[in-house]
Amino acid sequence: MKALTYQRYGGPEVLQITEVDTPVNDASEVLVRVMASGVNTGDWRIRAAAFPGIMAIPGRLMFGLVRPRNPRLGSEFSGVVESIGSSVTRFVEGDQVFGMVTSGGASAEYISVPEKGAIAKMPASLSLEDAAGMPFGGLCALVFLGQHADLKPDQKVLIVGASGGVGAYAVQIAKALGAHVTAVSGPAGQDFVVELGADEPVNYRETDIATLGERFDVVFDTFGAISPKVSRGLLAKGGLFLPLNFGLREIGALLLNSFRDRKIHLAVNEDRMEDMVRLAELVDCGKLRPVVDKIFPFGEAAQAHAQVELRHKRGAVVLKIGDVCG
Ligand SMILES: NC(=O)c1ccc[n+]([C@@H]2O[C@H](COP(=O)([O-])OP(=O)(O)OC[C@H]3O[C@@H](n4cnc5c(N)ncnc54)[C@H](OP(=O)(O)O)[C@@H]3O)[C@@H](O)[C@H]2O)c1
Repeated sequence: MKALTYQRYGGPEVLQITEVDTPVNDASEVLVRVMASGVNTGDWRIRAAAFPGIMAIPGRLMFGLVRPRNPRLGSEFSGVVESIGSSVTRFVEGDQVFGMVTSGGASAEYISVPEKGAIAKMPASLSLEDAAGMPFGGLCALVFLGQHADLKPDQKVLIVGASGGVGAYAVQIAKALGAHVTAVSGPAGQDFVVELGADEPVNYRETDIATLGERFDVVFDTFGAISPKVSRGLLAKGGLFLPLNFGLREIGALLLNSFRDRKIHLAVNEDRMEDMVRLAELVDCGKLRPVVDKIFPFGEAAQAHAQVELRHKRGAVVLKIGDVCG
């Protein structure tokens, strides 16, 4: 089968589409014929070994110290179940599914996924391309806002990077949880974040976020634009700062308890079956819609990676790999 691979860390030029062995599913796994695969910020960071802040060391230990341990790239997929292991009960052959694998290999014609991994049946309303662009941003937003922040109706949340891969889902999920959303993006994203449900758009090119003069219950920084010190000035008493990218500065703030009557929480997302199922339910009940910026043919994976790396995409970027009719 064809797979997106890399033999060394580097720019999009290290990417190749090569012939590799088709995975074989064991008793507890499903083999998925992949139709589309998201390209997200995690994927380019892994390709370039560009792990932010303190993640540089665990990132290299996890993905390979000097060169990639697993040459197969890709974390988000949608497709059709080709075969199931003997103990699999959640799926049958022919089911349309979508999901996320942190170990790589989703940008390929086939992937084998544990039945109890982050995989769920695809909502009927989604196209395969739309579904492939949801797990990275959707799961992250769901877990950080729904679980880490435990966001409640009428709480005020500030979302930085609100039109991006995580942000576009964070705005929708915060609204689904009943929060009042202030959404920070560039000029081109202002109307878009309002369409997603934001109550107040803020243009970071015109307004210094530090001077907003408002107090929030939760500050969710998906971009890495806010320091712990600035976040303190934006938080109401008891409020929570959730930075998705963190380094020594944020860890220092946590350890030194410099937040006192405010809090900072640092976490790395796990990709869990329960959260994928919840994501699908939110789509089914109309509370979450997919946001795909651009769909690239599989052969243009390098261009897709290059676009994602610019950090101005709207929602997700997706590779079209197969065709159900093909
Ligand atoms: N801790 C974890 O478990 C975890 C999980 C998932 C992701 N992450 C990390 O979280 C980050 C989120 O990824 P993503 O895919 O959502 O990123 P992304 O799509 O690249 O983010 C783009 C967003 O950031 C905005 N932006 C660009 N430049 C900005 C600036 N200078 N100041 C403020 N906003 C700016 C963009 O607005 P415009 O386009 O309008 O300029 C857009 O809204 C990544 O770094 C990823 O590694 C961490």
